[in-house]
Amino acid sequence: MSSIDKLEKLRELNKIAEMGGGKDKEKLQHEKGKLTARERLGLLLDEDTFVELDKFVTHRCYDFGMDKKKYLGDGVITGFGKINGRLVFVFAHDFTVFGGSLSETFGKKICKVMDLAMKVGAPIIGLNDSGGARIQEGVMSLASYSEIFFRNTLASGVIPQISAILGPSAGGAVYSPAMTDFVFMVDPISYMFVTGPEVVKVSLGEEVTFEELGGPKIHARESGVAHFVTKSEEECFNLIRELLSYLPQNNSETPPIIITEDDPYRRDERLIDIVPKDPYQSYDMKEIIRSVLDENKFLEVHELWAPNIIIGFGRLNGMSVGIVANQPLHLAGSLDIDSSNKAARFIRFCDDFNIPIITFVDVPGYLPGKDQEYRGIIRHGSKLLYAYCEATVPKITVIVRKAYGGAYCAMGSKYSRADLNLAWPTAEIAVMGPEGAIKFIFKKDIEQAQDKETIIKKLIEDYRDRFANPYVAAERGIIDMVIDPAETRPQLIKGLEMLKGKNEARPYKKHGNIQL
Ligand code: HXC
Repeated sequence: MSSIDKLEKLRELNKIAEMGGGKDKEKLQHEKGKLTARERLGLLLDEDTFVELDKFVTHRCYDFGMDKKKYLGDGVITGFGKINGRLVFVFAHDFTVFGGSLSETFGKKICKVMDLAMKVGAPIIGLNDSGGARIQEGVMSLASYSEIFFRNTLASGVIPQISAILGPSAGGAVYSPAMTDFVFMVDPISYMFVTGPEVVKVSLGEEVTFEELGGPKIHARESGVAHFVTKSEEECFNLIRELLSYLPQNNSETPPIIITEDDPYRRDERLIDIVPKDPYQSYDMKEIIRSVLDENKFLEVHELWAPNIIIGFGRLNGMSVGIVANQPLHLAGSLDIDSSNKAARFIRFCDDFNIPIITFVDVPGYLPGKDQEYRGIIRHGSKLLYAYCEATVPKITVIVRKAYGGAYCAMGSKYSRADLNLAWPTAEIAVMGPEGAIKFIFKKDIEQAQDKETIIKKLIEDYRDRFANPYVAAERGIIDMVIDPAETRPQLIKGLEMLKGKNEARPYKKHGNIQL
């Protein structure tokens, strides 16, 4: 064979590999409202940066006539490229080949890019669109999944791992995305479940649609599996690109500094008026968050799940920060099981990847009641305490209004080792709210009073005057500074700059035993 023929053969093989399952299957994919794997990578990565590996790999299955059905690449496209000029590793399931199902070699291709990502310290992004284990391959497919799970565990806390669900993700195939740091879903093309509607019908006699069982709305609002939901694939890829801009490449680096025109000393005189005079009235904590961040930009994570706590990324004078904040608009900002899980996992992510944590507090307490107690608020609520105490990244807490009881301790208090604790003059720091407290302290006086209503009102007012302020805590140094709300942004930036060199160690251990 001449050199020209050899080159021709290479071109031909490349062409065949790039056809995936062929034109008809590609048409079907588009009819389902989905892009092909190659189109997806084209939108996700910077132009002309994708380098494909293992393009000619085929499966090794001989059963069920599979030896006669081979496709170059075997249903998954793997390689590396760049996002905003920074290296990332990627794999994209190709649904046009055996429904993107995972064979032994398919799994090996994914493991190869995961291993490379770990070796060089760069994020890995998986674009999932798969019918799960390749049924014809049986246990070899299951073994391949396990190899991926193992690598997800190794990579956890070392490199950022991101999953986009862009079609089906069923059976054990849901667990690899679930082990990654962020899960994106696209409405209405994605769904995730451990057992599909058919099995649910047979085993439980329940009729349920794909959407109801594991569509994006369910995972964004109810289960908390999805961190982000978008309306199109393009929007999903743009959001992944944006998310990565806040993250370092790996756990030995710090996030990139993005130069901003926004004045680090910018004051916002409106902030004092955001907190209502009436302590029972709610307000939108996101107004405060946006006000202090560079260019008022906040990338919220888990927006629809457990909305009584807010988490997400922003920047202060170009530095990436993770925000954790109570949201008085939902459940008065109290902490329940879901919000504790949501915030604890986020804090641990920030700590893994050297992202300072800024906490805004307005919390009346842990949510009381039988439902929460039976489902384990003690176990789940304590995760938040654990996560704050464990984190060694710079931590700055701002108490905006209420900080009561155990929830005060949990929300980045001095003794959970926050580095700087600031309070607005509107802060109220106490063991519990005035209504509850006076009933314990003045039980007898209230019982003996003629006009109970008047005395209760007076006691509440007295208690509020004495304790519902930041000054008792400030007298004891538990609050480092009481600040004018207008200067929150400059104070946070000064604090972060001071904490740049923070170096705090915890005792060596194999790993802690968080209350899972
Ligand atoms: C082999 C598969 C496949 C699979 C789909 N295909 N899933 N081939 N193994 N798991 C093939 C189909 O036969 C079909 O081939 C092509 O992919 C497209 O599938 P369709 O069914 O036509 O597509 P659609 O209507 O969009 O339905 C998608 C689907 C459905 C809902 C995902 O294909 C499906 O239910 N698949 C099986 C899901 C499943 O039970 N997987 C195993 C889960 S158990 P042709 O040649 O007709 O085009 C599991 C265990 C993992 O994953 C455990 C890890 C620990």
